[in-house]
Amino acid sequence: MDESLMELPLLAYANARSLHFTSQYQLLMLLNLVHANGVKPDAPELFALARREKERLFERDVRNIVRGVYPVEVLAPENPVAHWWRFPAILADGLGMSIRRAQGQTEVFDEQAAGFKADVPFYYQRNFHFQTNGYLSETSAELYEHQVEMLFGGMADAMRRLVISPLKQAFAGSDGEGLVFLELGAGTGRSTRFVKLAFPKARVVALDLSAPYLQVARKRMSGFSRTDFLQGDGANLPFQDGLFDAVYSVFMFHEMPLPVRQAVMSESRRVIKPGGILAMVDSMQKGDRPDLDPLLANFSANYHEPFYQNYVRHPIPELMAGDGFDEPGSDFGGLSKVVWSRRQPQEASSN
Ligand SMILES: C[S@@+](CC[C@H](N)C(=O)[O-])C[C@H]1O[C@@H](n2cnc3c(N)ncnc32)[C@H](O)[C@@H]1O
Repeated sequence: MDESLMELPLLAYANARSLHFTSQYQLLMLLNLVHANGVKPDAPELFALARREKERLFERDVRNIVRGVYPVEVLAPENPVAHWWRFPAILADGLGMSIRRAQGQTEVFDEQAAGFKADVPFYYQRNFHFQTNGYLSETSAELYEHQVEMLFGGMADAMRRLVISPLKQAFAGSDGEGLVFLELGAGTGRSTRFVKLAFPKARVVALDLSAPYLQVARKRMSGFSRTDFLQGDGANLPFQDGLFDAVYSVFMFHEMPLPVRQAVMSESRRVIKPGGILAMVDSMQKGDRPDLDPLLANFSANYHEPFYQNYVRHPIPELMAGDGFDEPGSDFGGLSKVVWSRRQPQEASSN
C-alpha cells in the first residue's frame, strides 16, 4: 500500500489524542484561573507556530512507524479506566501547583518524601514543576507522564521518540540483539518503553535519582524482559569504562545546573564502548529556531525549572563534543531537539 495512505489513520489518531490532552489541559488552566493564577501567558501568535511544529512532528512520527523505525505499538493508548481514574488527582495537583506558584514555594515536602532527600543532591531537593513532593513521591510519579502529555498538548511522547532514529541508524536497524543501553533520567520509564519496543532484544539499564519514580517505572515496564532499574546519579555512574553500546536520555538535561550537565556528559562518554553512541532529547535551545525563541522565556517561571534559562543558553552539541567522539549531529522535532555523537571505533585498539 502507498505509504502516505498508511500514514493517514495514524495521523488522525495522533491528532485526536492531541485534542484530548489539550482539552484536559484547558480545563486545568480554567481551574488555575479560578484559584491562584500565576502563569505568565505566551503571545497568541506563538501558539500557531507551536501548532505547526506539532503537525510536522506527528507527520515524522507516523512516517517512522510506517517505515518500521519503531512499531505501531508505541501509539497504544493506556487503559481508559486508569486514565480517567487518575484525572481528579491531576486536577487536585494542578491546584496545589497553582498555590505553590502563587506563593513562590519550591521546597515543600511531606515527611515521607523528605525521607528521600538524603539520597539526592541538593539542587534536586525542590518541587520541580511546582509538583506536590517534586520527584520524591510515588503519587507524583503516578501523575507525571499524564501531566507532561497535557502540558505539551499530546506531543511529549512523539518528542521522546526522536531519540530512536539516531540509535537505529547507529546499529543499522538492529532489533537490539547483543546490545546494552544505559538510559539516564529514565523517570517513570516512558522513553524506556519506546526504546524497548524499537530494540526488543536490547538490555536496557534505566537509571534515575528518584527511587519512587523508578518504582512506578518498574510496575509499568513489568511486561518487558532485559530491563533493569537503578537508583543513581548520572553525574557519578557506578559502571566501568566502555560498558554500554548507547547512553541516552530524554528531557533530563534542562533540569540540571551547568556543572552537573558537564559531569553527566563526561560520565556518559566514559561508559560508552568504542563505536557506541551518546544521544539525548530535550528542549530546543536559544537560537535553534529563532522564531520560537520567545516560547523559551516563560517555561522556567511557570513550571519551576530553575536551571532552564541557563540550559537554553549553553548549546548541548558543545557540551557533548569530546575527544574520540564524532562531531555531534542534531535535529529538531516539536519543541525539542535530538543531539547525538558516536564514539570513534578506532579507539578500540588503544583501550
Ligand atoms: C523531566 S524528567 C524526564 C523523565 C523521563 N526521561 C521522561 O521522558 O519522562 C527528568 C528526570 O531526570 C531525573 N534526573 C534529574 N537529575 C538526575 C541525575 N543527576 N541523575 C539521574 N537522574 C536525574 C529526574 O529524577 C527525572 O526523572
